[in-house]
Amino acid sequence: MRYPFGTITITDKAKELVNKALESKRVSQGKYVKEFEERFADLIGVKEAVAVTSGTDADTLALSVLYDYGAKRGDNVIIPSLTFVATANSVINAGFVPNFVDVERDTLNINPERIKEKINEDTIAIMPVHLMGKPADMNKISQLAKQYDLKVIEDAAEAHGTKYHGRDAGTMGDMGAFSLYLAHIISSVEGGIITTDNKDYAKILRSLRSHGRWCSCSPCRMNITGDYCQRRFQDGKDMRFTFQRIGYSTKMNELEAAVGLGTLDIYHDILEKRIGNLDYLIENLQEFGPILQTFKKEDYEVIGPHAFPIILSEDAPFTREQYAQHLEQNGIETRVLFDSIPTGYDSFKFMGHTRGDFPESEYIGEKGLHIGVHQDLENDHLDYFLEKTRDFVGLHS
Ligand SMILES: Cc1ncc(COP(=O)(O)O)c(C=O)c1O
Repeated sequence: MRYPFGTITITDKAKELVNKALESKRVSQGKYVKEFEERFADLIGVKEAVAVTSGTDADTLALSVLYDYGAKRGDNVIIPSLTFVATANSVINAGFVPNFVDVERDTLNINPERIKEKINEDTIAIMPVHLMGKPADMNKISQLAKQYDLKVIEDAAEAHGTKYHGRDAGTMGDMGAFSLYLAHIISSVEGGIITTDNKDYAKILRSLRSHGRWCSCSPCRMNITGDYCQRRFQDGKDMRFTFQRIGYSTKMNELEAAVGLGTLDIYHDILEKRIGNLDYLIENLQEFGPILQTFKKEDYEVIGPHAFPIILSEDAPFTREQYAQHLEQNGIETRVLFDSIPTGYDSFKFMGHTRGDFPESEYIGEKGLHIGVHQDLENDHLDYFLEKTRDFVGLHS
């Protein structure tokens, strides 16, 4: 049996829309992107959503908005030390410095009790991550942000469908940044989207995604109708080629939006199936406790299931590599559960942190795995994984 890590569902409607876009030759950001943004905003419950080409760019652009509000290059952004590396890369790419805070082993998320000690006079924002769809402790984070006048940008890349005390991921900070990469619950193959209730932020984001242009229509009407824009020339200047801020080139195209519109149609079915799979795995992994652990589902949260994390306990009689190899040899795809970014990856060595600075992240970096919970996995797949784990644990007991 094959147990793939991720999947994407491309609906018949998506194929139809892709073909229509191709036939019309209107393939750059246009009416499908606009529709996708509007429907995504409605789904999450925010006023604005701005689509871009990746979750990494969604993070980077959300951070770059802060320059319009007085941020300076080199300012600090607090992020968890364990997350997918894109969170930290986006801080650097936006011209800021990541200030890492260790995570909690049982939630995988930033430890809210350790944030305060990292806040300094250059700190401008906190960027919590809802890793694997489990919400970060937003009450404490929002409280600190308020106390120290910091912006909060949720990295909600893995958190479609996540709720915390009834609030959706992507609505709890100043902005939320989602990935729409193909293993994610809503996907446009590659893509990202920023959510916000602040219309000014949305306007800046539209400018940023298109080179920092003066224009910030959603999207440019010339791309939808081909009509001439009456606002284009002002005081002898072509406003389309007037640039207000340092920008990026990161517009979503119509083909991606068409695939995204398809997954939005079946979003609730995908989410329901994934939640069922996650519940089943959480419950049945208990058979292997305390050797293999996963996170708990609290009654005030909905985990939007991105994937299923597994962490080996300190006294597990085997290594992560041995367990992962056993699963892979039996057709079950695995991914490591990331690593401590400042002390585990060569790319961040320049920041000068030492092994031991982020003990929980380093532990997960050595002992963590994740596997799929997606909509193409049936009970047979989940039972097969449990059976192969049972065989393996039995061999080592
Ligand atoms: C937590 C987190 N942030 C950011 C990203 C970046 O998203 P993308 O791969 O779409 O650039 C990902 C990717 O899945 C992620 O898991």
